Amino acid sequence: MKRYRNLFLAAVLLLALSCQEKKAESTIGADAAVEARVEQILSQMTLAEKIGQMNQVSAGGDVAIYADALRKGQIGSILNEVDPVKINEYQRICMEESRLGIPLLVARDVIHGYHTVFPIPLGLAATFDPALVEEGARVAALEATAQGIRWTFSPMLDIARDPRWGRIAEGSGEDTFLDARMAEAMVHGYQGREADTTSMAACIKHFVGYGAAEGGRDYNSTFLTERQLRNVYLPPFEAAVKAGAMTLMTSFNDNDGVPSTGNTFVVKDVLRGEWGFDGLVVTDWNSMGEMIAHGFGVDRKDVAEKALEAGVDMDMMTYGFLSHLEELVRSGAVKESAINQAVRNILRVKVLLGLFEHPYVDVAAGDAVQYAPEHLAAAQKSAEESAILLKNDGVLPLNPASVRNILVTGPMADAPHDQLGTWAFDGQKNHTVTPLAALQARFPGKVTYVPGLTYSREKRERFDDVMAAARRADVVLVFLGEEAILSGEAHSLADLNLKGSQSELLAAVKSAGKPVVATVMAGRPLTIERDLPNCGALLYAFHPGTMGGPALANILFGDVNPSGKTPITFLRTVGQAPLYYSHNMTGRPYNNETLLDEIPAEAGQTSLGNTSYYLDYGAYPLFPFGYGLSYTSFSYSGVSLDREVYGKDDVITVSFSLANTGQYEGEEVVQVYVRDLVGSITRPVKELKHFERVALRPGERRSLQVQIPVCSLAFVGLDGIKKVEPGEFQLWVAGDSASGDPLSFKVQ
Ligand code: NOJ
Repeated sequence: MKRYRNLFLAAVLLLALSCQEKKAESTIGADAAVEARVEQILSQMTLAEKIGQMNQVSAGGDVAIYADALRKGQIGSILNEVDPVKINEYQRICMEESRLGIPLLVARDVIHGYHTVFPIPLGLAATFDPALVEEGARVAALEATAQGIRWTFSPMLDIARDPRWGRIAEGSGEDTFLDARMAEAMVHGYQGREADTTSMAACIKHFVGYGAAEGGRDYNSTFLTERQLRNVYLPPFEAAVKAGAMTLMTSFNDNDGVPSTGNTFVVKDVLRGEWGFDGLVVTDWNSMGEMIAHGFGVDRKDVAEKALEAGVDMDMMTYGFLSHLEELVRSGAVKESAINQAVRNILRVKVLLGLFEHPYVDVAAGDAVQYAPEHLAAAQKSAEESAILLKNDGVLPLNPASVRNILVTGPMADAPHDQLGTWAFDGQKNHTVTPLAALQARFPGKVTYVPGLTYSREKRERFDDVMAAARRADVVLVFLGEEAILSGEAHSLADLNLKGSQSELLAAVKSAGKPVVATVMAGRPLTIERDLPNCGALLYAFHPGTMGGPALANILFGDVNPSGKTPITFLRTVGQAPLYYSHNMTGRPYNNETLLDEIPAEAGQTSLGNTSYYLDYGAYPLFPFGYGLSYTSFSYSGVSLDREVYGKDDVITVSFSLANTGQYEGEEVVQVYVRDLVGSITRPVKELKHFERVALRPGERRSLQVQIPVCSLAFVGLDGIKKVEPGEFQLWVAGDSASGDPLSFKVQ
């Protein structure tokens, strides 16, 4: 019996490690019974009712505004209604007063928590902890579904390599592999491992390439080749589809001249054709209509036809389908079968969510779910794991027993709304615990608060009040950063230094001669190089959410050892953007060539090595991807591979030993990177292939093994086919993307 069990487990493991998965019949889990139900409903629908299902509108406050349209079956989904009483009323009208009784899909941007707000997605990615991220998404689903929301427009899977782009806050950063793991975690969290009334359909967005906006300016054009799409931008979406994501949103950008909402290649060919996606495709807000502004269609009728042709099922806020599809069918320009297909995709999701059986919520019970203690605890743990220690000269952790007078200053010390970050519509700031509040609660009578600056952009010449307090303090905690409004959709920036007089505030307190700890809360990696010399330690928290205060206080005072790692490269100056660790190797790699300061005034026209770098800033970032300090230290040793040569179906076993060589218990995010040295196309200098958290007590050493399937080294090469190309590879095991020594292996 035991032998069979082992054989079975071995088979499961093999399947998990194999890349040759069988394409699922239904990517979203519909079976024959679901399909039969969908067909049965569809068969009763008039053309107008079908088109109605394809229409999504934004709630207008008063239910009466849409009552008539709902009765006529002209609306399939409503977004932005969060009042459960109104949601129940919308559903009642659909169920009882419309001809067919089809429930509504009620949608909302629940991006990093609903009422209990978690760190922004970029911060969640910094945890490198998919299980924790799944738990957070589950909490969001429990709170949102309890109030009638069954569809969230999350996760955002746009790879972003330019921190000027405000929406970098909303994704997992620059790396394809990390993004894909976060995508799976969020999909599982929102939708639940078992479908029930707490399942909220995930919507993976924005399909595709939106994060590569030229110049980091939101909504801007992208020019990604098919190969870049397939190697870098599409894999997280594919991973999320395989994880069962029920819906997908097209993006605002045009890629290589084709707006996504009219992009047959990505939606119909890749998503539907290659991946077999049978979920629902919705446009972004008026992105169908915006194809007119793009110059991709003459009028709403034209773009409605193009969107349907591309494979879009539901129109968010253009009213293009509602106004023109019937006419397009009558004229023969559009086949009713295309509409049937779209409606099937919508009904399938409604059936799977159990909306026909459970269209209503229990309002009182739903209220009780919000801000539950275990939700707040999960949010706090996420904020703790997400904070990244970027500098520490030994000042941290602070000793709680020896502080008598803590000066708290800076515009983010007590910013209950702003620490929630972008896309936190439903988080109420009276539930937020700021660092100031957390510190005051922990050290009654010992905290002096002098804000110095009341908001990030404020300018001041002198900080006499702060300085006087700093002289009396035994430690100065400076909370800097940017407000929620400075990142997120349409909030791109061309200058990434700390705004206003924040750097001056930090420099001023430094001159008081007391230990200074800076904590930065922001929606993106700011350019903080000039601020580092002015603090003994710097903790970076991408907007940490409701429980950011206690989480940060716990780190500062040593109850929690920081373990977050950068999910995005930190630039020295904005002019380096885009700079990311997995770049291709140029023909002239930088080799510490001459910098501007070293060029003699009379140099004339001379060779400086002619490699790829900036004369003024070199070629390296401030902090590389995957970087983050701990209060303890970790040492890797004995890294070895089980073989020197592998076949394409093999699994590489990497063995190594990891030791905690410091004084504190801590968690390390172990990272494994691979480089394919020669390919049919040039390949990235490193690519993340595995990560995991390992907890170690002081002095503890553990032998670890990591398995990397050779098939995970596949890429789309010159022939357009995804495969592993034989040849030489290098592999690193390290605590960040810039450390470790490579081992070599071959694939034949
Ligand atoms: C526009 C944003 O781009 C998208 O991400 C969001 O889900 C929709 N608006 C709905 O609010």
